Amino acid sequence: MRFSVAAGNGFDQKTDALVFLVDEKFWHDRLDKALAGALTSLKRRKVFEGKVGQIASVAVPQGKKAVRAGFVVLAGLGNAKELDAERVRRACASGALRARSEGAERIALSLVDVVWDGLMDPALAGQCATEGVALGLYRMEKYKKKDPKGEKEISQAVLCGGRVSLTALRKGVRTGKALADGTAYARDLINTASNEKRPPVLAAEARRMARREGLRCTVLDHRQAQKLKMGALLAVGRGSSAPPRLVAFEYRPRGSKARPIAFVGKGVTFDTGGISIKPSGGMELMTTDMSGAAAVFGAMMAVARIKPAVPVVGVAVLAENMVDGDATRPGDIVKAMSGTTIEIHNTDAEGRLVLADALHYTKTKYKPQCMIDLATLTGACMVALGKKITGMYGTHDELISRVRQFGEETGDRVWHMPLLPEFGEMMKGTLADLCNISGQRWGGANSAAAFLQHFAEGTPWVHLDIAGPSHTSKSEPYRPVGGTGVGVRILAGLAMNWKRLPKQKGKAFGTK
Ligand code: BES
Ligand code: MN
Ligand code: ZN
Repeated sequence: MRFSVAAGNGFDQKTDALVFLVDEKFWHDRLDKALAGALTSLKRRKVFEGKVGQIASVAVPQGKKAVRAGFVVLAGLGNAKELDAERVRRACASGALRARSEGAERIALSLVDVVWDGLMDPALAGQCATEGVALGLYRMEKYKKKDPKGEKEISQAVLCGGRVSLTALRKGVRTGKALADGTAYARDLINTASNEKRPPVLAAEARRMARREGLRCTVLDHRQAQKLKMGALLAVGRGSSAPPRLVAFEYRPRGSKARPIAFVGKGVTFDTGGISIKPSGGMELMTTDMSGAAAVFGAMMAVARIKPAVPVVGVAVLAENMVDGDATRPGDIVKAMSGTTIEIHNTDAEGRLVLADALHYTKTKYKPQCMIDLATLTGACMVALGKKITGMYGTHDELISRVRQFGEETGDRVWHMPLLPEFGEMMKGTLADLCNISGQRWGGANSAAAFLQHFAEGTPWVHLDIAGPSHTSKSEPYRPVGGTGVGVRILAGLAMNWKRLPKQKGKAFGTK
């Protein structure tokens, strides 16, 4: 879809649908007149009053047209005093969806109520409107037969910013487009069936994307993983006929010698649980168990386009957790790349195993300023925080607070969870250094994070447990059913706004 910007309120846009964002308090005399009093009538009947989430579509009266669009979609913004980026994203997404369902192929959006009187910075308005439209209209139909009567795609969107600077608006659109494209790419990967994304296939896709976007890309195959003694990763991949891979994307701004920031994603392309097999009901959802890796792919794509000032490394660790005569058994003991030995008491706790080697590899190979990992790690985190909120753990106060800030700004909300030493204690092994499960159900997300901490130690680190928000079965305005691409915009936001971290003084809050 192509995005462009224009001055004015959108009345003069010759397009299929004009999506007009309407503030609850503001009275649009001109719009009301142009629509032959439809606004007054809708308001009187309480059908549309500009409230959050309200949508109405109105035909443009025949005759001398004050509005040149085929029809108008009104999208409520609520009260201007409470306006924020998330409301703009949602209103734009709902408006664009309504326009598409009523046959529009080209749309214009009027943002005058968003940027009016300095209410919202025009670059931010352009950015979140673009995110809302692009992510709201996202769908993956590659598995469906073409329906000749089906909805057409929208090919063009013009953002109208009243009298604000078009340069600022355009800048926001460019950023929003990169973030939305990265998120949509992550969604495509998550929504791809597991028979089409086994580790070697996903690694080949990584190479293609990197070449297209101008990123460096290194792929370790299982022989290289053996040489590097990645015993934890290899143990998870043993049961699959498609062996593990470790993908590393590298972005480096011209001339920069700075140490990179690093993203690490869990990419279990399917999780049967292994010999500790999962119940069959709902197992098909484990096709989304590579959402952390997908977020890294998507964030690196956005980074390649946005070109931040800091170097960025994105590591995706790929394995398929299957059942087989050669699969890892409960009770097996393996040695991770770091030299730490691990008793595997439950082969379904595989995410922490692949991440153990990925974190150690990233830390030693790239010496990053910080590491942020994302993983669909525990059902326990979903029990604790529900389906919409990411659990956050970390060892560095400033990094934690930045991730929280970008969580708020992007609408990918996160909540800080405890990483107390007692959870680390619970992960000690009997015969080996560590065990991959704590042996008790309670606090399962916390003990999993404590296991990872062991392999991240020494580098400022944040872990995001995205088991809940990685996927949705109930659609929201800009999150249709399926993979959500959660985390992509947080990671890209961190990179775009990067400043060196201060040294952590003492233990971080939540770790003592
Ligand atoms: N991939 C799962 C976690 C998961 C569950 C993600 C549901 C999304 C939805 C992970 O590998 C897993 O199986 N975790 C176990 C850990 C347990 C064996 C300690 C879990 O949460 O039950
Ligand atoms: Mn598992
Ligand atoms: Zn898993």
